Amino acid sequence: MTASRPAILIARKIFPEVVERLRTVFEVDAHLSDEPLDALALRARLQGKAGVFVAGTEPINAGLLAACPGLRAVCSMAVGYNNIDVPACTAAGVLASNAPGVLTETTADFGFALMMATARRIGEAERYLRAGHWKHWGFDMMAGADVHGSTLGVLGMGRIGQAIARRGVHGFGMSLIYHNRSRLPEADEQALGARWVDLPSLLREADHLVIVVPYSASSHHLIGAAELSQMKPTATLTNIARGGVVDDAALAQALARRTIAAAGLDVFEGEPAVHPDLLTLSNVVLTPHIASASLPTRRAMCDLAADNLIAALTGGVPPTALNPEVLTRA
Ligand code: GLV
Repeated sequence: MTASRPAILIARKIFPEVVERLRTVFEVDAHLSDEPLDALALRARLQGKAGVFVAGTEPINAGLLAACPGLRAVCSMAVGYNNIDVPACTAAGVLASNAPGVLTETTADFGFALMMATARRIGEAERYLRAGHWKHWGFDMMAGADVHGSTLGVLGMGRIGQAIARRGVHGFGMSLIYHNRSRLPEADEQALGARWVDLPSLLREADHLVIVVPYSASSHHLIGAAELSQMKPTATLTNIARGGVVDDAALAQALARRTIAAAGLDVFEGEPAVHPDLLTLSNVVLTPHIASASLPTRRAMCDLAADNLIAALTGGVPPTALNPEVLTRA
């Protein structure tokens, strides 16, 4: 019986309880490390595997799929899936899944916290205190921008964007403008007092711009020098979406010249590398891609990826498939 169980690869270190659960169903090969496998090693470890558990970091593309003809399921614990070429998976008959929903509120908490830390200069103030610079009270010492009552601009109004918007509107009395390819239903706009605007208006009017748009070829450098130049000099920009949506070099210049006031960044182009100019600036709060990182949420993300993998390889219905049509094909 054991011999007939499908073989899978767990490509990253995850909760031991989830590894054990997968071992009850599959022959498991596990790369239990925070250091990702490089492309060659991933390809080698996937030989003879029917499924793979990935995070948002393992590139799954047509070349890899062609080299791993036994692969039938690629299940990610991340919600963003720009590392997975879904059309290539579909063409190869490989089920792909991500992990939407379970991280929405945790990620929105973090996005809001990062925006607040940015507006109120919390990172900079803590560094100032720890460095022993706090000698006197000063009327404008670490004075920043208000969050309450200001205008929140949300770029990308999916689940996480809406959860951030609710926090701003209901918790902080903010006015809400947003830009998204598709508008919210009118009833949702009314419930939030949300106003859809075009991108230039969003940039011009927002006091605090929060970016939550998925990364794709069409959102690459959506915010570059030209867009930054349209923002208020008092405005903040927070990016919890993906590195590459913002041109980090252009952002560093805008921050250095103070054409915008401050930024909060959880994601970076080419992360874990960070543009060196950002590291030298005081008016940017930098965090290492941790917006979904509460323990209960990371566990829920792992559980959902495991649910998808088990269903995909045992004749079930994966709960959050990106291309469910591959399962219904003859
Ligand atoms: C994190 O960035 C995710 O996409 O889950």
